[in-house]
Amino acid sequence: PPSSRILGTGSYLPARRVTNQDLADQLARDGIETSDDWIVERTGIRARHFAADGETTSDLALPAARAALDAAGLTADEIDLIIVATSTPDMVFPSTACLLQQKLGIAGCAAFDVQAVCSGFVYALSVADAMIRTGAACKALVVGAETFSRILDFKDRTTCVLFGDGAGAVVLGASDAPGLHATELHADGRHADILCTPGTVAGGQVSGVPLLRMDGQAVFKLAVGVLEKVARSVLDKAGVPETDIDWLIPHQANIRIMQGTAKKLRLSLDKLIVTVDEHGNTSAASIPLALDVAVRDGRIQRGHKLMLEGVGGGFTWGAALLTY
Ligand code: ACO
Repeated sequence: PPSSRILGTGSYLPARRVTNQDLADQLARDGIETSDDWIVERTGIRARHFAADGETTSDLALPAARAALDAAGLTADEIDLIIVATSTPDMVFPSTACLLQQKLGIAGCAAFDVQAVCSGFVYALSVADAMIRTGAACKALVVGAETFSRILDFKDRTTCVLFGDGAGAVVLGASDAPGLHATELHADGRHADILCTPGTVAGGQVSGVPLLRMDGQAVFKLAVGVLEKVARSVLDKAGVPETDIDWLIPHQANIRIMQGTAKKLRLSLDKLIVTVDEHGNTSAASIPLALDVAVRDGRIQRGHKLMLEGVGGGFTWGAALLTY
């Protein structure tokens, strides 16, 4: 097939909504000071959702996947590929994609996880697109799902206020009509230490630090530059001028990074889809969550051109240009 296109989108947020004030009150009990004003001003975040105890990444992925299947008018057994982008898998193995497959009540199709932190969804979409173009798959379920609350250090106010839990999904199908025009992925492992969760399991115990660590300013400086460059490169590959972009759907980490990228691409800020205010940074889930919100509220219409772009730990980054 010449192309792959999005047949349906879905998303899911865990029930518990935690406002900045809720979080400030919780941190204050440990003698840590933060405020709604600080968080809103520096990040644009007002609230995030946290999974309940025992609620796993595949639990969040399941309703998002079902909603995407419904929107595509498909049943789960018509799916022949599942890719889950996550850095907070349910367990070391099997993959969250296999656990999701089981929860969907299907068996046999390929299922695997992609781990590229906040760029994970763009990575997963790009892999699914490539597999569809080669004929290795026909209808792919591509999910970004995270429970970052499990790896947050609630004694570190510089990171724990930034992240949330959630899941977003798309069904990507082979298509003769234009869908994904171009994608591009990058990584630079030299920056592994500026954003990491440096723990693992060994000898039956947790070794290292299984909590998120970040040098926020180093991340900020790298993020804006690489996002502009990769977006321009994808536009060039597709032969599409930046003025044709209807919606920019960046990874939702920080409103200042997102607005900075939109300005560099000379896009007006009303073309920017923003959910970071209500979701916080949900890592690999943020782009498909934002996409689904804007599809369901009617902003994104069939035929619109979307620029998706992610950046995150690794360091990884990438972009995808598509016609919805
Ligand atoms: N509440 C109150 N004060 C705080 C908090 C908090 N939650 N966190 C930090 N501060 C304080 C600091 O201690 C510091 O105080 P000091 O001046 O007395 O030392 C002051 O606020 C300023 O801290 P900075 O780190 O300089 O704040 P900055 O303006 O850089 O904002 C932030 C920090 C929001 C993390 C910013 O660097 C940023 O957005 N970085 C990008 C990283 C990001 O978005 N990462 C998301 C994951 S990566 C990704 O998804 C791509």
